[in-house]
Amino acid sequence: MSKKIVIDPVTRIEGHLKVEVEIENNKIVDAKCSGMLYRGLEKILIGRDPRDANQITQRICGVCPMAHASASAMCLDDAFRISDKITKNGWLVRNLIHVSNHIHNSILHFYHLSALDYVDVSKVSRGVSSELDLVCKFLERDKYYPFVPREEDFRLPQKINERMVYSYLKALEIRRTTHEMLAVFGGKMPHQCGIVPGGVSQNIDAGKIESFLGKLKDVKEFIDFYYIRDLIDVATYYPEYFEIGKGCGNYLAYGVFPVRKNGKFEKFQPSGIVIEGEKFEELNPSEIRECVSHSWYEGDVKNPVCDFPEVEIEKENAYSWIKSPRYRGEVFEVGPLARLIVAYRKGQQPWKEVIESFLSELKIDIEKLSSVLGRHIARAIEAKVLTEEAMKWLLQINPEEPFYINYEIPEEAEGMGLSEAARGAVGHWIKIENKKIAHYQVISPTTWNASPKDDKGKPGPIEQALLGTKIKDENNPVEVLRIVRSFDPCLACAVQIMNRKKMKSKKVMLWV
Ligand code: NI
Repeated sequence: MSKKIVIDPVTRIEGHLKVEVEIENNKIVDAKCSGMLYRGLEKILIGRDPRDANQITQRICGVCPMAHASASAMCLDDAFRISDKITKNGWLVRNLIHVSNHIHNSILHFYHLSALDYVDVSKVSRGVSSELDLVCKFLERDKYYPFVPREEDFRLPQKINERMVYSYLKALEIRRTTHEMLAVFGGKMPHQCGIVPGGVSQNIDAGKIESFLGKLKDVKEFIDFYYIRDLIDVATYYPEYFEIGKGCGNYLAYGVFPVRKNGKFEKFQPSGIVIEGEKFEELNPSEIRECVSHSWYEGDVKNPVCDFPEVEIEKENAYSWIKSPRYRGEVFEVGPLARLIVAYRKGQQPWKEVIESFLSELKIDIEKLSSVLGRHIARAIEAKVLTEEAMKWLLQINPEEPFYINYEIPEEAEGMGLSEAARGAVGHWIKIENKKIAHYQVISPTTWNASPKDDKGKPGPIEQALLGTKIKDENNPVEVLRIVRSFDPCLACAVQIMNRKKMKSKKVMLWV
């Protein structure tokens, strides 16, 4: 006899995600991810000055606005035909603004969105500090949510458990430091004004470089001494999570952080696809399509370059506002794990060497990274490498050289900008007519990962990661939440487009 469990909304993620699983003999036999939230930022852009896209698309998300700032700036650079003219300073400062937000997201995700799945706050000794007591009281709200780990599933020894609550507090401080870092070059979070088409909006002097460097050193220390150690401890006490939440096995990355190498710009984290965990191929963006056969839109398969789907609220078999992006018709996971697997299989340094050293410390092989713990570890490896690399970028800035180049807005043009949010590949597509935006489309990481089934009936990456999972307690499937959260879903980003004139349903929540 099967049991159906609906988790709506999944807590401690960004936005509103509904997950429905069917359990038979303690195993998940069916899984459905539904995006229950509409934003509509793409619709707002139509008819506007193309440069507005750079500011407006940042409003898609308060967690990953820099990824949208970068992707939209690259999309506009492409449409204005200046991509190859962006200066070295322009790229370095763009990277530093973007990477501040990227590292922030990894720390936020591990400590403030996921750690409470493994750390028992109720076991922390009280009376050590009033700040700690207040935070513990606040965190204990978590136990009122449906489906939380039972006492026996909290396994960290008392000492590590206490230390991780302290790390939780420290992580709040460090997140503020990453925002301050970003503000040095980009202005105040969440909506910066530093990354613009043509480069960056200000010239940088030695004082700013020094200010950024001081903050970056504090962040690096936290990653080296807290984040990495805390994560290794969680991995040590929850080893079965190297087997749980495997996913679809295909990985896609657009790549991010262009750096000058051998006289040209190459992405520090490479783009590419990996099929069945092993076979690397270069990325061909024209292979991307969006399937809508199980989403509340008319039709079947859409092209991000030109299609604008209409709502079909009574569509049979549809269960999500999220579309299903597919590459060459196949399901691909995006995110930190995808970026690492792509870099590893491509053989790109320093990634390959760092991944190998982590694998040997954890005594696991690369296949084990395709799991709940693997996704957490991928974020931490990235945060470590990126803080080290950011120091190098910072010291390469030459205040005497240009940071920005001029351009003209073309009468008609098309553009594409491919970048990465911390949670995965983010793409922006634009069509300009009469110097105005005629079409704009965003495909965000969660659109890939939380996608519903496609026209061939193939489930999306999170759905596949859930399928086949053994559930210890059918009345309390904490495994489901740990799997879903390992993808760091962001529903604020996942649904942008929709034609509202036909929309009369209560199924949708408006958040514009
Ligand atoms: Ni987001």
